[in-house]
Amino acid sequence: MSTVDTIKERLSIVDLVSAYVKLDKAGNNLKGKCPFHNERTPSFFVSPDRGTYYCFGCGAKGDIFTFVENFEGLDFMGALKVLAERAGVQIVKENPTARSEKDRILLALETATIFFERNLGGSVAEKYLTGRGLTPAIIRQFRIGFVLPEWRTLYDHLKSKGFTDAEIEGAGLSKRIDKENKDAGGRYYDTFRGRVMFPLSDSSGRVIGFSGRVLVEDEKSPKYVNSPETIVFSKSHFLFGYDKAKYQIRQQDYSILVEGQMDLIMSHQAGFLNTVASSGTALTFDQLKMLNRLSQRIMMAFDADGAGFKATVRSAKMALELGMDVKVVSLPKGEDPASLILKDKEAWRTAIRSSKHIIDFYLERVCGEEVDARKRAKKVAELVLPFVTLLKSDIEKAHFVSVIAKAIGVHEEAVRGDLAKVKTESTAESAPAPTPQAREIDLSKRNYIERRLLGILLWQESIPKETTDRVALRKKLEDIIGKKRLTELEDVFLPSKNELIFEAEITYTKPDVLKKTVAEMEKTLEKDILKEQLEGLMRKLYEFEREKKPDEAKEILKQCQILSNKIATL
Ligand code: UTP
Ligand code: MN
Repeated sequence: MSTVDTIKERLSIVDLVSAYVKLDKAGNNLKGKCPFHNERTPSFFVSPDRGTYYCFGCGAKGDIFTFVENFEGLDFMGALKVLAERAGVQIVKENPTARSEKDRILLALETATIFFERNLGGSVAEKYLTGRGLTPAIIRQFRIGFVLPEWRTLYDHLKSKGFTDAEIEGAGLSKRIDKENKDAGGRYYDTFRGRVMFPLSDSSGRVIGFSGRVLVEDEKSPKYVNSPETIVFSKSHFLFGYDKAKYQIRQQDYSILVEGQMDLIMSHQAGFLNTVASSGTALTFDQLKMLNRLSQRIMMAFDADGAGFKATVRSAKMALELGMDVKVVSLPKGEDPASLILKDKEAWRTAIRSSKHIIDFYLERVCGEEVDARKRAKKVAELVLPFVTLLKSDIEKAHFVSVIAKAIGVHEEAVRGDLAKVKTESTAESAPAPTPQAREIDLSKRNYIERRLLGILLWQESIPKETTDRVALRKKLEDIIGKKRLTELEDVFLPSKNELIFEAEITYTKPDVLKKTVAEMEKTLEKDILKEQLEGLMRKLYEFEREKKPDEAKEILKQCQILSNKIATL
């Protein structure tokens, strides 16, 4: 049995989903408010028998794996790890010593977090944080701490708790004084000394590293020191605050991206719980994908300085390449979100509310910088048009062509001409995954009924004890739409078979209602098809009459009468 199957067998979807969503019984299934979109009345169903969920509101569907992927914003391997841990299943490749090494390192990091937290009370660092506008509650929530300016307070503490040198170094918490010289007595010193300590958590909230800020800025030491890469911490896959923001990003269907951890904490304190921070490093596709999995809309709020602007342009391009919808929050010159919120919480709200699409933002900026009309047009073509080519929607493209034409005072034709010349040099390492929406096939009334009836048929054929005569249902469907069409439908819906079955199952919990509905739908479908045939005959009749072929016309007329009688009796 595969790891995936073992996990599916051991974990109940109901237990898993119940940890996130309140579920109530609804027949054989359970029902709750969908965690993937905002709703008042529950339209999210979980089927314990099938191990699947389905939302009638937003179309979210899947099994325990997709649930964890989507809810936690993980990729498949990430979800597999989370679920394997829950199920107590070992993922084949991982060896047991690596497992326990990782656990020990995580424990060391947690122990360090508690140590730093205890140091904070009454310290200069606490005063510093309060001075920057943080409340005691938010300091506790983010587990901010302090470490004294000594060489090895943490090292000594961890040693007293039984951690080995290898574990402490492996956690990135201490460094050996001289790697080459073992005779130096293997002395270690702490990575973080005399700093305000911000724990960095993974998507499930476990501490995987730290960022430490100096209390007093000087020329010598860097303002922030971050954990090195370790077996639990990878800078390029990490977003500060992701664990606390992921649910709200989903719910509000957009993320706010800021640069620094202070920006993030202040934004959360101001009530914007969908904020994450890139922690000053150049944004990676992996980080953007983490956000894109939760919502494809992103709002970038980088520092209002030259570096912040460059970061905005670069990151926005990458996000557009992933098919994301990118907006930019402009801040007053020289401010960052943290400083703005400290001065005026409302100003932050206003800035977010008046965020602009990246192209509008960039266009205004370029136009504002260049007074000479000819130079301005050239600069726009060179800098802004590449962004337009990245847009996935032709309607959006057309919109911005028109906006740009107006801004630089040329005809749209000219803009379109230059746009065609822009070379698309993609920086994305892989094509973006299509969004899981818009999967519905053309649902005209007839298609809809066919789909529904097929769902009921497949459902009835998939359960041991039918609730309506399935043999008769198949026969009847074949009679009405023809064997060929039925096979065709089964082929078309093969990929969504389980969804169709589930939909039928949760819609028709009562056998008598099912019988009645099936009969009604069969009748409507039959009527529809007969009407279509009648229309065809009428056209023929008309032609025969026009061509003066009375005998043929008479024959057709007879058939027409039989058909309309049949329709009338249905
Ligand atoms: P900033 O220099 O904008 O810092 O760097 P900040 O967030 O405004 O810092 P405060 O408000 O003065 O405390 C933004 C982010 O870049 C990373 C940190 O994550 C920081 O939050 N950074 C900055 C470093 O990693 N190292 C540094 O030396 C400086
Ligand atoms: Mn800043």
